[in-house]
Amino acid sequence: MRKIGFIGCGHMAKALMLGLKSHANYTIFGHDRNPANHSWLKDHDIEHKSLESICKDSDIVIICVKPKDMYELCVSLNNVLDEETKVISVAAGVTIENLNKALPGRKIFRAMPNIGAKDNLGITSIFSSELDDEILEIFNFLGKAFRVDNEEKINLHTSLIGSGPAFYFEIINEFENRLNELLPEEVSKRDITLLFLTSLISAIKNGENLEDLIGSIRSKGGTTEAGLNLLYSENFIKIFSDAVDAAKNRATELSMD
Ligand SMILES: NC(=O)c1ccc[n+]([C@@H]2O[C@H](COP(=O)([O-])OP(=O)(O)OC[C@H]3O[C@@H](n4cnc5c(N)ncnc54)[C@H](OP(=O)(O)O)[C@@H]3O)[C@@H](O)[C@H]2O)c1
Repeated sequence: MRKIGFIGCGHMAKALMLGLKSHANYTIFGHDRNPANHSWLKDHDIEHKSLESICKDSDIVIICVKPKDMYELCVSLNNVLDEETKVISVAAGVTIENLNKALPGRKIFRAMPNIGAKDNLGITSIFSSELDDEILEIFNFLGKAFRVDNEEKINLHTSLIGSGPAFYFEIINEFENRLNELLPEEVSKRDITLLFLTSLISAIKNGENLEDLIGSIRSKGGTTEAGLNLLYSENFIKIFSDAVDAAKNRATELSMD
């Protein structure tokens, strides 16, 4: 059995741990300085270990702390991390060059996953100087993983893959708030959301493109057109696109810190 240790057990690590729990080849452990996450680990039958033991006991360490906490953590890791242990960082904007400086002589990988990993429906892009089938396999188990040949693409993926789901959740959240206000109590707003999301997924699986799908719902003078016209006149498309750019620019800024 191979062992994976998570350092930092917040939102991202929890999603990765939930997705990996059913992997037959790996045992997982966690380490976090925040006691609130210790009880989460306990509730999910995942052992909490000290920083030193997690480094000694793991074949792979996945660092899931915020970028601001990365360098201080690396200083502590340098004393306890074996050179053979593979290190994966999911931190937005922390470059391989800086990770190599902070953790010299280690096998380092950058991964940009998203929280879909918790249901094995994530998307992860991976950058490293060497190929490693095991790392790719782990993230493929969590959904779909692919290697990028250029680290700058990770910044792009941070905004598209890492942050992207939150943009859609914001829209769905507002839609559900309105369903709550407008529909009778007995109708579950989440069931309605799921219904239209599953129809969307099956339409995409069947090869339909989104413009055709929108066209098939919109009819001249109808309700869809009324709603869409408002979105267009209020510049929703540009605002949404600008939000993606804002996230992309922030990822670039973080990598220069
Ligand atoms: N959330 C996402 O959807 C997402 C997507 C892609 C990538 N990422 C990346 O994933 C990383 C983690 O993000 P997150 O949203 O999971 O953050 P988070 O919820 O704040 O979790 C980070 C956890 O790490 C702990 N921590 C920080 N420094 C530590 C140390 N030295 N030793 C032990 N524990 C430590 C934090 O404790 P405290 O609470 O005490 O600070 C916190 O519990 C970030 O670098 C982010 O860029 C996140």
